[in-house]
Amino acid sequence: MSRSAHPAGPRHADVLPEGHYTAPADDLNALDPKVWARTVGRDADGVVTVGGIPVTQLAEEYGTPAYLLDEADFRERARAWRTAFGDDADVFYAGKAFLSRAVVRWLDEEGLNLDVCSGGELATALSAGMPAERIAFHGNNKSPEEIERAVRAGVGRIVLDSFQEIVRVAHIAQSLGKRQRVQIRITVGVEAHTHEFIATAHEDQKFGIPLAGGQAAEAVRRALKLDGLEVIGIHSHIGSQIFDMSGFEVAAHRVVGLLKDIRDEHGVELPEIDLGGGLGIAYTSDDDPREPHEIAKALTEIVTRECEAARLATPRISVEPGRAIVGPTAFTLYEVGTVKPLEGLRTYVSVDGGMSDNIRTALYDAEYSVALASRTSDAEPMLVRVVGKHCESGDIVVKDAFLPGDLAPGDLIAVPATGAYCRSMASNYNHALRPPVVAVRDGAARVVVRRETEEDLLRLDVG
Ligand code: LLP
Repeated sequence: MSRSAHPAGPRHADVLPEGHYTAPADDLNALDPKVWARTVGRDADGVVTVGGIPVTQLAEEYGTPAYLLDEADFRERARAWRTAFGDDADVFYAGKAFLSRAVVRWLDEEGLNLDVCSGGELATALSAGMPAERIAFHGNNKSPEEIERAVRAGVGRIVLDSFQEIVRVAHIAQSLGKRQRVQIRITVGVEAHTHEFIATAHEDQKFGIPLAGGQAAEAVRRALKLDGLEVIGIHSHIGSQIFDMSGFEVAAHRVVGLLKDIRDEHGVELPEIDLGGGLGIAYTSDDDPREPHEIAKALTEIVTRECEAARLATPRISVEPGRAIVGPTAFTLYEVGTVKPLEGLRTYVSVDGGMSDNIRTALYDAEYSVALASRTSDAEPMLVRVVGKHCESGDIVVKDAFLPGDLAPGDLIAVPATGAYCRSMASNYNHALRPPVVAVRDGAARVVVRRETEEDLLRLDVG
């Protein structure tokens, strides 16, 4: 694959040499709590369990592949973010990571807000009863219909992404006799991914309005003049799978600089800033993400310090974690179909899913871990590549990992940390049927998104 440097992957290609893999863990049966959902363990027979239920039982009942979502873990992580930021800040869960009506209800109950970025996500949120004022509506090209629906519903904020959209939203709001609360998304010239960030880079992309050249200031100038808009703040999102807080530091410095310019020019202190999402999770044991309270402390300190230096009242902060909440809470359960040793290379393990349920490895060269889930084994480790059943050689789920050498067809294997951007980016490639999401909690399992059926596929194909 030549696209290995895609920024949303956990590592840039230049950090590790081509073909790198970490040595096998001392105990292949161990489940590193860093990468597995919190209620995951093994029962007395060695079978992996989640929420107290063995995966063998879940596979029998719901089939494979399946995403198994640990509801207690999801709620705990959501609550941890909420608690860490306290009452003076707002946490918006980024629905693009994974959204379903059950998830919306959990978020509502745990006191989080919701970021949606399409009419479909908005419809899901509203249909599950999320109060509209707790919804933020994102997107770089929202259609007039989507904007109208959001304004009519009374969403708490629309994040404006272009000069055209400033006028479009103002016009729609005004024609509905409303004043829409908005933030303006700017690009601060910071790109942050995993262990790196680059300042003065990445203005060359489609999102937001560049701070450079006074464009963001001009956007604010125009928005403040429009009756249909109430400008509540500035929005910045700097990247994905970030561990290093220094990118946020530079971003906050630049956003606060803009707030100061706005105050000086218009005499208005905008009350809010949104620092976006992008906080990293552990996909393998090598990753060391920070806890929500550390992130909250760091971000709050950065903003407070920058505002003090600029003699501004500290604005209300909001953040938009998606992956950091849902990512670690689910794993994908597959059944092994074939095991193909390639002499001197590695063993290819084919599972009953693939790039249609996890496109991240093919798209971003993302790294994942994997474990034998239906039993334990003391066999010698073998280097494997876990691949799917699609007609494409790039159909890789786990690029390099070790599994016990006695792995055989019929075994169940599990890939952790697939809660974010797997079901939400799933496709029907090769007319694959997208797997269900099964939520497990306190010994009870229930389907929250059901498996697709051939009838679902054929219903859309009107002949
Ligand atoms: N807020 C905004 C404005 C965003 O654009 C995003 C992600 C988030 C929040 C949430 O970011 P998170 O905390 O989940 O990293 N498909 C890619 C990730 C794309 C992220 C797009 N925007 C992946 O699988 O890595």
